[in-house]
Amino acid sequence: MENKKSKSLRILVIGSGGREHALVRKLAASPLTEKIFVAPGNGGTAGLAENVAIAADDIEGLAGFARENGIDLVVPGPEAPLTLGVTDVMRQAGIICFGPDKYCAALEGSKIFAKEIMRAANTPTAACRVFDNVDDAREYAAKADRPLAIKADGLAGGKGVIVARDRDEAARAIDEIMSSGKFGEAAKKILIEEKLEGEEVSLLFFCDGKVAVPLPSAQDHKRVYDGDLGPNTGGMGAYSPAPCLPDEEADAVADLVARPVLAELERRGHPFRGVLYAGLMLTADGPKVLEYNVRFGDPECQPLLARLESDLVSHMLACVNGTLGEEKIVFSPKTALGVVLAAEGYPDNYPKNLKIEGLDDAADEGVAIYHSGTKYENGELASSGGRVLCATALGDDLQDARNRAYRALEKIKMPHSHFRKDIGAKGLDRLRREKKKGS
Ligand code: AMP
Ligand code: GLY
Repeated sequence: MENKKSKSLRILVIGSGGREHALVRKLAASPLTEKIFVAPGNGGTAGLAENVAIAADDIEGLAGFARENGIDLVVPGPEAPLTLGVTDVMRQAGIICFGPDKYCAALEGSKIFAKEIMRAANTPTAACRVFDNVDDAREYAAKADRPLAIKADGLAGGKGVIVARDRDEAARAIDEIMSSGKFGEAAKKILIEEKLEGEEVSLLFFCDGKVAVPLPSAQDHKRVYDGDLGPNTGGMGAYSPAPCLPDEEADAVADLVARPVLAELERRGHPFRGVLYAGLMLTADGPKVLEYNVRFGDPECQPLLARLESDLVSHMLACVNGTLGEEKIVFSPKTALGVVLAAEGYPDNYPKNLKIEGLDDAADEGVAIYHSGTKYENGELASSGGRVLCATALGDDLQDARNRAYRALEKIKMPHSHFRKDIGAKGLDRLRREKKKGS
């Protein structure tokens, strides 16, 4: 393995979002990189790497491509290939894969498994009950004396969680998730959790099986409209750091939500290697885990990588080799903020093939436009998905990063487009409150 470090690497990135565009850009900047392929990629990755038409969940297709093309390092972006076992399959072929094995990926693939691990690791999370029967679930919810969160056990594209304010909403949520058939196998079992109160924040960790190193905090904006209204989406914007979780507190949070989980998984014979993402609620009783993801978040990845100054390829190899403790991981003290431009109607029905213009005008120092649902056709850029791109800016502070990202976004023209105007507003409010208190 060590000799891989001095060799030029052929890298296969899996996925097609803004996260993957940001990963490709960072990997391309490494002196360790020879060539990058992206499966299937998007209009943005096409300019930096070679897109190959293999779907992100076609594990056999990806393994065949990796073998035939001398791939040294595989970097899965989304959760699907990980929960399908891409890391195990690549490992069997002698190819390094930056991500947890199938067993560990169930931390994201099964909320019940995640709760079992958290219980064993003594990790703070919401109290919950598991049901595999609609009637029992309804009966339990009908007697509840506080608000509940109803969750499908399996992967549901971010739509399998409903936070209910009262018993009626809880009953409707149980029907929606268990009986509608929308979620298939993913909703054969559900969890009913106590509703937690507090500010949400994401903390991601590089993990090498034993060691977990926290990245700076980030905050996503999951709802489609300003003021956290409307349906949940994949994420409409993110920034880092989030003032509600300052850098100096990250290590103590790692002791609560990451390191005991790594120890438990290692004890079970499955050391977690890759990125562990803890979605946290900062409650009056301290941070509690809402969910684990087993990969970078999208769009959290875009501002986080905008701040990463050290070599991502080297960090990924250290995670796989178990040498993370020796890595020097450096983040810029600046703030980064990304705003997602979406097609009107997303996350439900939305138009595609919308012409995108003005990207060259938008480019500025410290600003990167990461593509997600885009494609080039006859040399013209057009939308191909609901989330289309993410304008990401690095600034001296949150206000500066925000101004730069919105300035860039205003220059981009796409009909029927929509973006949130309040990305970072919660962080700015907190900074203002803290300043007032301090003065
Ligand atoms: P999850 O996929 O489990 O992170 O849930 C999606 C979203 O639902 C989270 O980002 C929270 O906004 C919300 N949520 C999930 N669980 C709870 C809970 N126990 N209490 C309050 N909100 C929750
Ligand atoms: N932005 C949330 C996620 O990637 O799951």
